[in-house]
Amino acid sequence: MATLKDMTRYEKVKRELQNNPKTWLITGVAGFIGSNLLETLLKLNQNVVGLDNFETGFQCNIDQAIACATNALRADNRLLDTASFTFIEGDIRKLEDCQKAMIFYPSISEKEGIPVDYVLHEAALGSVPRSVEDPIKTNMANIDGFLNMLVAARDAKVKRFIYAASSSTYGDHPDLPKVEEKIGNPLSPYAVTKLVNELYAQVFARTYGFKTIGLRYFNIFGRRQNPNGAYAAVIPKWIDAIWKGKTVYINGDGTTSRDFCYVDNAVQMNLLAATAENEEATNQVYNCAVGDCTSLNELYALLLDGLTDNDRLLTADLIYRDFRAGDVMHSLADISKARNLLGYQATHRIGEGLNEAMAWYLDNLINEESV
Ligand SMILES: NC(=O)c1ccc[n+]([C@@H]2O[C@H](COP(=O)([O-])OP(=O)(O)OC[C@H]3O[C@@H](n4cnc5c(N)ncnc54)[C@H](O)[C@@H]3O)[C@@H](O)[C@H]2O)c1
Repeated sequence: MATLKDMTRYEKVKRELQNNPKTWLITGVAGFIGSNLLETLLKLNQNVVGLDNFETGFQCNIDQAIACATNALRADNRLLDTASFTFIEGDIRKLEDCQKAMIFYPSISEKEGIPVDYVLHEAALGSVPRSVEDPIKTNMANIDGFLNMLVAARDAKVKRFIYAASSSTYGDHPDLPKVEEKIGNPLSPYAVTKLVNELYAQVFARTYGFKTIGLRYFNIFGRRQNPNGAYAAVIPKWIDAIWKGKTVYINGDGTTSRDFCYVDNAVQMNLLAATAENEEATNQVYNCAVGDCTSLNELYALLLDGLTDNDRLLTADLIYRDFRAGDVMHSLADISKARNLLGYQATHRIGEGLNEAMAWYLDNLINEESV
């Protein structure tokens, strides 16, 4: 058995949380990253309030997160307390919905609520192309909604506000790997909104002494990331296309590269950020990535290889088309700041993450086909 000394900071944090449960608010809980945060927190017996308006999220993500947590606890001879999660269908563009979500009520009859300790703010409209098509809608969710959340969380005196920032903030800065202090000009309306989030967070720290941490997510992937729709991310979209024999489109010549990061690494960084005791670690932004770069051509080969391992021989038409407006050519993170100040240690590199993600998609896509 690992001694306390051998344990990573993440293992210690999970143990401490299990022994002393906290109360969390996850916005965007019906989405991809939000539902993965929910699953992990429920496995750790935490109290969770979830807020979502189902703009791009789904009830089935919440249901699956609860089911996975229930099964994991059962395997450990423990039970999930169904009262430990409450869901509010609401909109971060409304201040009163954000305020309502700052208190956890263990049951409907309960008059006294428990104030939220930590906010994990994921709700936003993702996707660069969506923002290029409708910058006003993206602005309303990502900037107005963000400010509402900051105000509500400040007034509720939450201990810490962790928010989803983005690697798009690096914009046209040419340096690789990306270090947190050096950013360029934003290349899309989406990138503007994520930069403004960081500026507001800094101002709330200076003006009100409010504690925030921004996680600049690089390309996060994994179970429950939506493969459908015009704004789907590359990994689920390609898995779906390859499996169903549809055409795979590569924007550009395929040498474009990304630092693909499995969702379990992102969940880890959220928990480490919320609980970091080191004062120096707060009011900062961190790259949330692995520190590996993979080209789109390499990604395609990895997916084809992984999926063809099944009994089904897979082929997909591959078409190269124009590079997409607002995208950057290369993206690779320096993760030393998160390693040094948060104790972050990625548990999954791209291959390990893809294996888990592909298994999940195959289960779900096969189920979809058989109904
Ligand atoms: N997935 C990535 O690779 C990535 C990369 C960089 C940043 N991010 C950021 O991480 C966060 C989570 O992304 P995701 O990939 O899980 O996306 P997602 O679309 O799966 O989840 C976002 C959730 O927010 C909800 N939401 C949107 N607008 C809302 C509103 N006005 N009020 C309440 N809920 C609202 C949606 O319904 C959805 O459930 C976002 O802030 C996104 O910008 C993600």
